[in-house]
Amino acid sequence: MNNTSYMLAIILAAGEGKRMYSKKPKVLHEVCGKAMVEHVVDCAKEAGASDTVVVVGHGAKEVQDTIKGVKFALQKQQKGTGHAVMQAAQFITDRDVLVLYGDTPLLTPQTINKLYKAHKQGGYNATVLTADFENPYSYGRIIRDNNGKVAAIVEERDANSEQKQIKEVNSGIYLFDGSMLKEALKELKNDNDQGEYYLTDVIKIFNDKNLSVGAYKIENSGEIMGVNNRLQLSQAASIMKKRIIEGHLLNGVTITDVGNTYIDAGVKIERDVTILPGCLVKGTSYIEEDAVIGPHSTISDSHIGAGVHVENSVVLESRIGEGTTVGPFAYLRPGNVIGKHAKIGDFVEMKNSNFGDHSKASHLTYVGDGDVGNGVNLGCGVVFVNYDGKEKHRTKVMDNSFIGCNVNLVAPLVVGKNSYIAAGTTVTKDVPEANLAVGRIRQENKEGWVKRKGLLKEEE
Ligand code: UD1
Ligand code: CA
Repeated sequence: MNNTSYMLAIILAAGEGKRMYSKKPKVLHEVCGKAMVEHVVDCAKEAGASDTVVVVGHGAKEVQDTIKGVKFALQKQQKGTGHAVMQAAQFITDRDVLVLYGDTPLLTPQTINKLYKAHKQGGYNATVLTADFENPYSYGRIIRDNNGKVAAIVEERDANSEQKQIKEVNSGIYLFDGSMLKEALKELKNDNDQGEYYLTDVIKIFNDKNLSVGAYKIENSGEIMGVNNRLQLSQAASIMKKRIIEGHLLNGVTITDVGNTYIDAGVKIERDVTILPGCLVKGTSYIEEDAVIGPHSTISDSHIGAGVHVENSVVLESRIGEGTTVGPFAYLRPGNVIGKHAKIGDFVEMKNSNFGDHSKASHLTYVGDGDVGNGVNLGCGVVFVNYDGKEKHRTKVMDNSFIGCNVNLVAPLVVGKNSYIAAGTTVTKDVPEANLAVGRIRQENKEGWVKRKGLLKEEE
């Protein structure tokens, strides 16, 4: 039986991450649109942890502002992994305790579940997640006794030449019996050459107390990869990217050029969606059935309805209704709600606007702070003049109105339904329902003017 729901997860994330050379705390660096530590938090939750405590230190506030739904423990000074766990001691009870690091974004819940199973089946008091590394340099090595139990973990700097040959490394991920861990933490010392409290020494303390320590070795050693610099960050990102894309492909999404498609971890895509080359689908975007995205488009934190086609366009924080087409070369800035079967054509920019069903802005239009009804046609070159130099104002264009080419709609303004606005009009006052508004100087033709001015070019 899987009882992980009684498990407390402690995630260590207080370190600075010097080798990132960054203003940002290491664990907030993103892998496929999600901070590394958030990947780890989500992994713990998916594996069934009922409570998660994140130990923060460097950039504590920033880290706390980023992660939702967890508890925090503050480690003011970074005195080692054991010291970090001590800061969370108040949360440790007789529940099982899972210890994770905030810089291992590739870890999966499946692996935690296997670790949990091994822990229970072996009847261990502590179980270490390990892996064989071709190049184990810099990792703690697993020292096993004749029965295969873990006798100790020796850090690289403390290892003798024989121990350095060992390829089985400590992932830094463990399951502990909570009350035993709590006792052992009290006995941790910092009498090593770094003057740190090593969590790895808890293993030795367990053994000294004749508690049993097991190991669960994973096949896919890439999962426990720790990210310490930006090279490793990019390596982790390409592994994660591949994992995400393979997941979508196997769920029924067509992706025509996987090498040139970037989909964030938080994106959801329904089946029979097609993603053409050169697309970025970011944040919490949701794409419904039969939509076609691309080529060369960015979709960020947006909801794309069924059958929508977005071509060569940028869509930010917007909702697009079923069957609507966007682009090529449209720019949807945040805050738009676009209806069904609408058309947002080339070189159309829209922000913070509502745009109704079957409405069209086919080309070269700016819709800012607009409320456009259903069945409206915006001609080429329509501008919603929403800014008076001080404040933004809204323009309301009601159902079935026809706005001619090169019309300026100077907000605040209401254009009543079924109205027509003549091309080239600058509209500065409301237009009542079913009126024609014309506001331009009447045209005058001056006969013979070109000849009089001596500008006429004689035909040869
Ligand atoms: C640790 C393990 C090593 C293991 C390796 C796996 C110890 C002593 N060694 O070494 O056996 O092979 O991880 O990657 O545990 N942290 C804090 N507070 C601290 C120190 C660290 O929160 O005071 C956090 C860091 O932010 C990081 C994690 O703990 O997320 C690991 O710390 P790090 O210094 O990278 O440990 P390693 O030296 O890599
Ligand atoms: Ca590390």
